[in-house]
Amino acid sequence: MHLPDMIEAKKRTKTNEANIYDYVFTKIDESLVGKKYFVRTYGCQMNEHDGERIKGVLESEGLTETDNIEEASIVILNTCAVRENAHDKVFGYLGLVKKLKETKNILVGICGCMPQEKSVCDLIMSKYKYVDFMFGTHNLDQMVNVINESIKNKKQEIEVYSMPGNICEGMPEKKDSKISAWVDIQLGCDKFCTYCIIPYTRGMQRSRRHEDIVKEVEELKKQGYKEVTLLGQNVNAYGKDIYDDYNLANLLRDVDKTGIDRIRFVTSHPWDFTDEMINAIEECPHVMPYIHLPIQAGSNKILKLMNRSYTKEEYLNLYNKIREKVANSTITTDIIVGFPGETNEDFEETLEMVDKCKFDGAYTFIYSPRENTPAAKLKDDTPKEIKEERLHRLNEKINKYSNESNQRLLGKIEEVLVLNISEKDTSKYMGYTRGMKLVNIESNENIIGQIVNVEITEAKSFSLDGKVVK
Ligand code: SAH
Ligand code: SF4
Ligand code: F3S
Repeated sequence: MHLPDMIEAKKRTKTNEANIYDYVFTKIDESLVGKKYFVRTYGCQMNEHDGERIKGVLESEGLTETDNIEEASIVILNTCAVRENAHDKVFGYLGLVKKLKETKNILVGICGCMPQEKSVCDLIMSKYKYVDFMFGTHNLDQMVNVINESIKNKKQEIEVYSMPGNICEGMPEKKDSKISAWVDIQLGCDKFCTYCIIPYTRGMQRSRRHEDIVKEVEELKKQGYKEVTLLGQNVNAYGKDIYDDYNLANLLRDVDKTGIDRIRFVTSHPWDFTDEMINAIEECPHVMPYIHLPIQAGSNKILKLMNRSYTKEEYLNLYNKIREKVANSTITTDIIVGFPGETNEDFEETLEMVDKCKFDGAYTFIYSPRENTPAAKLKDDTPKEIKEERLHRLNEKINKYSNESNQRLLGKIEEVLVLNISEKDTSKYMGYTRGMKLVNIESNENIIGQIVNVEITEAKSFSLDGKVVK
């Protein structure tokens, strides 16, 4: 058994070089071969991508996926720790899993970011004894061993490490889409925003080798993929840890040369965004003009308390520069309300920034204290109702601008990459514009996997309607 340790998780090595190794296949316990698995994923894109690896490994060991948990012999919850409600969802779902386990012999496991918290491990050990195994983000590639040990020893197996982090190349993946693929370019995070648990759950910021990334994109293109999304918590800091003269701008240009139709990248931290990167976004024909640029707050006092390392003026400067240089850009953001010490005046400054930037869209959150993070120790005396009211006011503003941004597209022809049948209306298709706007499309032909011209016929707050034009 190995338990995580928040103090270890905070340490960053001086040498800052991650050990890169290839995935080693291990035979899974015979009792599982030919059986069905059920995986549920809760978190961000990185967590989803890990989910694709979990599925890929299980398939490579002879299991098949089911989306009906009652058919499964093994259930894995791939969790997120970023806010308390992510925890609540998992513990809620565990109740259902427990009932199922009373009627049937199944293996139950938890992985992802939650096991990286010691308090979660302690709770699972004391109160959720029916959970068979847990592993964390650092030993995802050891999943089969952890499962085998829990079967062999017939007891709860917990293997969670806190360490700077390695890079495991070549894990099998079962991708959710055959059109658009996630590609990790950087793991972990070194920014330590004071509210955020990710640097503790995912380890130090470490970049994959650019040759490996380009090779992966070339391979995806060969398989028929139309789009890749380059993933990292701070993609603009890509390469800093391993190269002197190779950064995200170089990487975008090199990935662009593969000729894959669409390249996206998330998330951009304002701090590491250089002019060279803005030029690369504008100049590379396959790089989409969509930038997710979290601002988090509009008051310099709060930004400082959050350790975001920019002021609102610096953010606005960067924002305007991107708007100026990148034609038809879409810029979205993340905002937290109710950070400890946020006064009404501070919150008004956030609203002011939203008015200045007129974001195309935003994800908004009420601050959620995370164990062992510096912000959790700050005095937080804003009542919950006031935080909720702030969120409500903020959302009204965000929705207004996102609606306006969509209205501007009314009557225009947009290039859309069609990903699937529309969830809302199965007679339609759904896809995304270059600027990452969701469009529901009328078409007589099956257009899935194609980039088509779509005339926008209706604009709503969160989506567009359109029809294919030749
Ligand atoms: N690396 C990305 C964000 C990852 S988490 C970045 O720096 O932008 C996604 C979003 O969750 C963050 O941008 C932040 O707005 C929100 N978030 C993170 N920790 C939070 C917390 N403790 N409470 C509320 N929201 C939080
Ligand atoms: Fe969290 Fe900040 Fe790192 Fe983003 S940059 S993952 S918000 S610590
Ligand atoms: Fe992602 Fe949640 Fe972990 S946002 S990195 S899955 S804490």
